Amino acid sequence: MSLFALAFAKVLGARVIATTSSAAKAARLAELGADEVVDYRATPDWSQEVRELTGGRGADRVVDVAGLLEESLRAVRTAGHVACVGFVSGAAPPIDPRVLFSSGATVRAVAVGSRAQFLAMNRAVEVNRLRPVIDRVFTFDDAPAAYRHYASRRAFGKVVITI
Ligand SMILES: NC(=O)c1ccc[n+]([C@@H]2O[C@H](COP(=O)([O-])OP(=O)(O)OC[C@H]3O[C@@H](n4cnc5c(N)ncnc54)[C@H](OP(=O)(O)O)[C@@H]3O)[C@@H](O)[C@H]2O)c1
Repeated sequence: MSLFALAFAKVLGARVIATTSSAAKAARLAELGADEVVDYRATPDWSQEVRELTGGRGADRVVDVAGLLEESLRAVRTAGHVACVGFVSGAAPPIDPRVLFSSGATVRAVAVGSRAQFLAMNRAVEVNRLRPVIDRVFTFDDAPAAYRHYASRRAFGKVVITI
């Protein structure tokens, strides 16, 4: 998932193939506009499924929040783009340079962004009336439970601590 990536992609008119780890989350992703959903737990080589869903071509752009760059490079179309955003999978598998070479892809590390990009993003959020998906709200006193809930990977959307 990574729900804002899905929301922005849909605003831009993209067909979105999302990855997630359960049927329940897949159903909610579809409700939010994902055109196809691939279960990365059931299908660890999900890039193959992305290729099949795109007629062998591959995705134009991959937003990688998991840190599974080699799989992202296998999923992207020739000379496509991979945005390296995070490493939430906790794994740090090596990248075969031959996979990078043969993808012809541009890999770009995305680290937050500039103030101008932040303002442009906020305009897009406002104009398109995008709302964050909130999973649960915890009080500050209950902050440890909030972290435990987030770590459990059951959350769908943001886990909020109010101050
Ligand atoms: N570069 C930057 O500027 C920037 C800014 C903010 C955040 N980040 C990073 O971006 C990442 C995502 O943040 P977020 O707020 O979107 O987190 P999030 O809401 O927890 O979403 C991350 C998603 O990654 C998926 N995931 C977890 N383990 C995975 C695995 N082994 N393989 C594939 N997918 C896996 C999970 O999918 P399911 O739960 O659906 O299975 C989860 O929904 C984090 O690493 C964060 O540190 C980077």
